[in-house]
Amino acid sequence: METVSDLQTLRETVDELRQSGTIAMVPTMGALHEGHLTLVREAKRHADHVVASIFVNPTQFGPNEDLDAYPRQLAEDQAKLESEGTALLWAPDVAAMYPAGFATSISVSGVSEGLCGASRPGHFDGVATVVCKLFNQVRPDVALFGEKDWQQLAVIRRMARDLDLAFPLAGNIIGVPTVREADGLAMSSRNAYLSPEERASAARLSQTMREAIERIEAGKDVPATLGWLQSELVSAGFASIDYATLADADSLTPLLSAPTAPARLLVAARIGTTRLIDNMHVEGEAA
Ligand code: PAJ
Repeated sequence: METVSDLQTLRETVDELRQSGTIAMVPTMGALHEGHLTLVREAKRHADHVVASIFVNPTQFGPNEDLDAYPRQLAEDQAKLESEGTALLWAPDVAAMYPAGFATSISVSGVSEGLCGASRPGHFDGVATVVCKLFNQVRPDVALFGEKDWQQLAVIRRMARDLDLAFPLAGNIIGVPTVREADGLAMSSRNAYLSPEERASAARLSQTMREAIERIEAGKDVPATLGWLQSELVSAGFASIDYATLADADSLTPLLSAPTAPARLLVAARIGTTRLIDNMHVEGEAA
C-alpha cells in the first residue's frame, strides 16, 4: 500500500489504479478501529481497489472541541489498512487540503440543522466541504460511510444529490451498519478518552436505547419514553444529554408519536468530557 500526501501524486496514482478497475473510497480521520476496517472490507465488495483517506479535518471541530487531542497514529493505521488490502492511502496535511486563500464552504440546509448540527454549529459545513474535496481529489466510483454517523451520511447524500456529483453518484454512497463492542457500545475513536469507570457506564447508552425502542414499538408514548431514556442515562453516570430524538430515518424530522415509516432513535450524550453518539433503527407501524 502506498501512502501519498500531495495532490499531484494522488491523481497520478489513482489514474493508474483506475486503469485496472473501479475505485471505492473510505474517508476517515484515522485512529482506526474495527468500525473503520469493516468499511474497508465492505468497500472491497463494491470495487476493485480501495482508497482510504486519513485527514483530521480542522474545519469540522468547534473552538472548544478536541482537535488537538484527537488521536493521531499514522504508522499503526497504515499497518491496519495494508493488512486489509487497501491499495492507496491519501493522507494530506492541512496546508495541502486548505492552501492559503481557501475561501469556499458547502452548507447543506435542512438535514444538517437539528441534532448534532444544533449542538455543533458549523460542524456539517466542515464535513460537507472536506468530503466534497476528498471526492473531487480521488474521484471514486463508490464511497462508504458508517451508519454510526447517521446524520453525516444523510448530509453527504443530500450534498451529492443536490450538486449532481458524478464521482461518486449519490446512489453509490453506501452506508454500513454500526460496528459495536461486545457490550453494545458503538466503536469510536473517542472511546479511547473514557476512564475505566466511564467506559463501564458508556455501555448503558446502547442498552438503554434498545429498551426505549422496545417501549416505542410497543406503543408507549414517545415524549415520555424519550424523557425516561434521558433520566436513565443521567442515573447511569452521563453528565448531560445533548439530544435524544426519534426522527424520520431520511429527513431526520423529529417525530412526537409512534412512527408510521422507518425511523431512527438518535442520541448524543456526554460522559465526563467525552461526547458519545449513537443511533438505531425503529420499526414504523403500518399506518
Ligand atoms: P471518522 O470519525 O474517522 O469516521 C470515518 C468513517 O468511519 C465514517 O464514515 C464513520 O461513520 C465510520 N465509523 C466510525 N465508527 C464506526 C462504527 N462503529 N461502525 C461503523 N462505521 C463507523 O466521520 C469522519 O471520520 C469524518 O467526519 C469524515 C467523514 C472522514 C470527514 O472528515
